[in-house]
Amino acid sequence: MGLYPPKDWQNESVAREERTWLTLAALFAIVFLSAFMGIWHLTGRQTTHGEAYRVDPQAYRQKVLEFTELHRVGELNGIPVVAPPPGDIYLMAQAFSWYPVLKLKEGETYRLHVGSVDFPHGFSLYPHEWSLQLYPGYEWVYTFKPTKAGEYTLVCNDYCGLGHHTMLGRILVEKEQSRR
Ligand code: CUA
Repeated sequence: MGLYPPKDWQNESVAREERTWLTLAALFAIVFLSAFMGIWHLTGRQTTHGEAYRVDPQAYRQKVLEFTELHRVGELNGIPVVAPPPGDIYLMAQAFSWYPVLKLKEGETYRLHVGSVDFPHGFSLYPHEWSLQLYPGYEWVYTFKPTKAGEYTLVCNDYCGLGHHTMLGRILVEKEQSRR
């Protein structure tokens, strides 16, 4: 008998203590969730503030291809390498690669345009620690100032298909002195 709850238990009102605890728990969850979302957005290194624009994916692809042709200096694993001057630079996410390979200068400031031309992709940049999401139809612009020379790795962190795990890219950052 003891294995079954008393009859009509679901029609009994919740005890006052229980209601108090339920309310406290709900408030706790709401306050902490919203506080941390706000704090993390402002202080977390994985997020950044940028501009976003609606764009036709094919138009964005065209823009990236034109940018690539203009600044092309070589090729790495079949992907063009571009060495643009400081200012606007373009990066395209597509199944399953990052295009083109950007070759930048340490300490310079760039306006990094990034967008997906097919599926949602995740944009993670190491060791810069950014972790952002890309949706086709939008173009994001972030201020990017590489402070360390070396090879930065782009990783797609949003499952986008069978080749998702192969979707790696490079941003090459050269030392300031190597210009002279
Ligand atoms: Cu692109 Cu996963």
